[in-house]
Amino acid sequence: MIVYHLSTECYPVAKVGGLADVVGALPKYQNKIKGVDAKVVMPWYNKAFVYDHEFDVVFDGFIHQGQNMLQVQVLKEKTDVLGFELYMIKIPGLLDRDNPYGYQDESFQFLAFQHGVLHWLSSMKIRPDVLHCHDYHTGLVPFMIENCREFEFLKGVKTIGTIHNGEYQGMMSWEMVNYMPSFDSYKWGLLDWNGYINPLASMIKCSTAFTTVSQGYLEELFVSFRGLESLVRDEFSKAYGIINGIDTEVWDPETDPMLNFNFNSKNAIQQKKKNKEKLCKEYGLKPELPLFAFIGRFATEKGADLLPDVVWNSIKQSYGALNIMILGSGNSYIENKLKEYDYTYSNFALDVGYKEFLSHQIYASADFLLMPSRVEPCGLNQMYSMRYGTVPIVRYTGGLRDTVEDISTGGAGINFTYSGVDDIVHAMNRALAIYNQKGVMENLIHANMSFDFAWEKSAEKYITLYNK
Ligand code: ADP
Ligand code: GLC
Repeated sequence: MIVYHLSTECYPVAKVGGLADVVGALPKYQNKIKGVDAKVVMPWYNKAFVYDHEFDVVFDGFIHQGQNMLQVQVLKEKTDVLGFELYMIKIPGLLDRDNPYGYQDESFQFLAFQHGVLHWLSSMKIRPDVLHCHDYHTGLVPFMIENCREFEFLKGVKTIGTIHNGEYQGMMSWEMVNYMPSFDSYKWGLLDWNGYINPLASMIKCSTAFTTVSQGYLEELFVSFRGLESLVRDEFSKAYGIINGIDTEVWDPETDPMLNFNFNSKNAIQQKKKNKEKLCKEYGLKPELPLFAFIGRFATEKGADLLPDVVWNSIKQSYGALNIMILGSGNSYIENKLKEYDYTYSNFALDVGYKEFLSHQIYASADFLLMPSRVEPCGLNQMYSMRYGTVPIVRYTGGLRDTVEDISTGGAGINFTYSGVDDIVHAMNRALAIYNQKGVMENLIHANMSFDFAWEKSAEKYITLYNK
């Protein structure tokens, strides 16, 4: 079975968040299953990976976007170093950028990607069994292969659309239709949602089946999906919730080269302590106190707007008996407020930016990881932290609900219900009580490390779905 994953991110080539981790791991694990050949197609980026590896140009052609003629090159990484064939689509001016997102003309960028991929596949007469589209950036592919004359060759190819984050739908005005490959205009309804072209809505309508990255999130979409609630209800018969796994080869505390002190479940207590001491020393924190950490985008969906008040309240309520460390970037108001507190409180450390190395060190060093997400389709941080013996404190939502069970019901994490400062601080107080009971804390570290979030099971579930 030949599967092409289409995505704007793939670790370690280009990563903004969890989408990259999933697309960098899922195909690798699928390829371990007999008879499966999974590949990844992504835009070309001006990133270290492309200069550190050799590529062959396997296709060179042109597409039209409105009046503009765009050159499309497809480059294949020579050695399949990632455990799958990696193809990068290069289009000068649109798909040769530094980063996946943040450009004013992203509608043109993602249209060009989708058009470019399908043009290459149909010109070269490559007919996969499944096109697996990730998020709205590739959401128009299921529509295009069925309805655009240019891709007649691909008609009938099965498509899976995976929703990693329904908060972003890629809506664009109908003027953009002029920049799409042509189709019979009476089909417009398959693209439309409330007067806009909505790629995520179109993906739900046109894909053979669609998935969300946890069952819990799928259930939430029926009631909260930024206007698409009725659509997901109508299309429920082809919806599946499949929880993400984690790449246990990359995220292995025993071999992780980004850690200062590696560890396994036998020496976790001592080695985690050493990691923590080093990190605390670097950031001026107090290693004898518990360390709470947050890693992620400063966005309201992550509950990051609550962090400044959480820092202030928790330090005050505990009379300074804890450390908090935050790594992330995003909303500038949140960033500035946190910077102010970084200056004020010696128990608080902030590092602004995207730092892969530091994130691994924090997962290994912290005692508790905070995830106050308002929306969390799956969430990978809690699974990384658990594997590294760090107790997750999570809001009971989406994928967090599916992966973290509260200690009061036999689990190894802490849940809270509302994304409000009081609830979060209350959860932290529960954590403090645990931290002070040495035996309980040590058992929790071991319990967290023993969870199995490896990709194998979920990779298999996708294959079962493809077969179906
Ligand atoms: P999302 O994709 O919504 O941001 P996930 O939990 O699925 O959330 O994945 C986030 C991924 O990005 C994890 O691998 C996490 O470690 C990483 N990450 C987030 N922010 C940072 C940061 N500032 N520096 C390093 N890694 C980060
Ligand atoms: C999105 C979601 C996150 C999920 C990730 C990978 O970024 O916000 O919850 O873990 O995709 O599926």
